[in-house]
Amino acid sequence: MALRTILTDNDPALHKVCRPVTSFDERLHDLIDDLKETLAEANGAGLAAPQVGILRRVVIVVDDEDNMLELVNPEIISQEGEQEGFEGCLSVPGRWGIVKRPQKARVRAQDRNGNFFEVVGEDIVARCFCHELEHLDGHLFTEHADRLYTNEELDEMIQAQEEG
Ligand code: NI
Repeated sequence: MALRTILTDNDPALHKVCRPVTSFDERLHDLIDDLKETLAEANGAGLAAPQVGILRRVVIVVDDEDNMLELVNPEIISQEGEQEGFEGCLSVPGRWGIVKRPQKARVRAQDRNGNFFEVVGEDIVARCFCHELEHLDGHLFTEHADRLYTNEELDEMIQAQEEG
């Protein structure tokens, strides 16, 4: 296992469409393990392969029980409801935006051995599914946000919300 470098927003790899995974081999397992280690080190909620420069359809999402879900060739097969909230990205450090997402999303994916499964996420996990899967098509959350906020502005807004 090894830590990989997380690319930031002007890197061309973040704006490309990733290819499906077709070989569920040791190379894929190494990539998944590295993504998990890199995500843990960065203390993030999710990480997609293109964020470390690998243009393959693989993402890791932290679920509401703190497990790292390994999603290979993931697709959102249904979604319902709506939520609006702050979103950030390890590839857009120190910037936050308000983004609308479904409240609930069901994903179909393959595991590291190619077996299909489905998983449902709500609230933050649904948000994370949408955010990470978009990375696989070269999109960033910043495309959905009217404006971006700094860490300081985010703190102030959260504090104001708590007080008000
Ligand atoms: Ni991201």
